[in-house]
Amino acid sequence: MRRFAGPVALADRLEKSKAMDKPVRVLAKAVRQRLRPGRLRDLLHGVPLGEPVHPPLATVSLGCWLSTAVLDLAGADPRAARLLLATGLVNALPTAAAGLTDWSSLHREQQRVGFVHMLSNLTALGLFSASLVARVRGSERPGRALSYAGLAVGGLGAYLGGHLAYRQAAGANHAPQVTHLVPLGWHDLCLLRDLPEGRPVARRLGYIQLFVLRRGENVSVLADRCPHLAGPLHQGRLVMENGDPCVVCPWHGSTFRLIDGSVKHGPATAPAPMFETRLRRDGTIQVRPGLT
Ligand code: FES
Repeated sequence: MRRFAGPVALADRLEKSKAMDKPVRVLAKAVRQRLRPGRLRDLLHGVPLGEPVHPPLATVSLGCWLSTAVLDLAGADPRAARLLLATGLVNALPTAAAGLTDWSSLHREQQRVGFVHMLSNLTALGLFSASLVARVRGSERPGRALSYAGLAVGGLGAYLGGHLAYRQAAGANHAPQVTHLVPLGWHDLCLLRDLPEGRPVARRLGYIQLFVLRRGENVSVLADRCPHLAGPLHQGRLVMENGDPCVVCPWHGSTFRLIDGSVKHGPATAPAPMFETRLRRDGTIQVRPGLT
């Protein structure tokens, strides 16, 4: 029996399609080169907020445009519809900047879907802009028709954005469950003397893989999964950031403080789960999930 290829099946096929890989590669590289690690990039990722800023910003624009259509259908004051339309357009600029920044640090299958999401939204943006121009010139009917078309195309973009967030887990925290998999209390991890000095290694604690770094008798332990897209933190670089020892994820450069796992730089916005440590008299390192 042939199955109906619904929108999810089409989006799944889009993930596997290599047709647009070249422009995807070129654009992602250009964005990463232009937007170097730093305050602006962290702001666009949503690091100060602790979660991505693109989704809530996108909701504002979509809400404005949906409300414009409702006002049009209700025959309300055209000035109110114009105001909402323009508000959505102004808000689309930071929304696009944040989305493009997040997109440039995704993996290829996510970038393919994100690229079509972006093209749909750019088309919608063009239609809404044309609608505003038509309305300002007094052409109300064509202006409304352009808005409806924009909403239809923007709806496709929003659907793909949902696929990206919920099916492909772009923007989700990939390390939150780690501490829940470890029973409460202290657990033996390994002997201190078995850890190399100043070089991160991976150690297992039940189902969980941990990032472990020894410096003298101090041992820093984090979940080894990067919260951004689950990169292996023990393969990362060690750096100092404003006097804090940190680890830089080898995949997209998220930087976490060793002392508490907090995010110094994105694209990750959620902290790396941290484990408290203590040293037993026989030289065994014990760990338990940290409170931060
Ligand atoms: S997996 Fe992307 S920064 Fe770590």
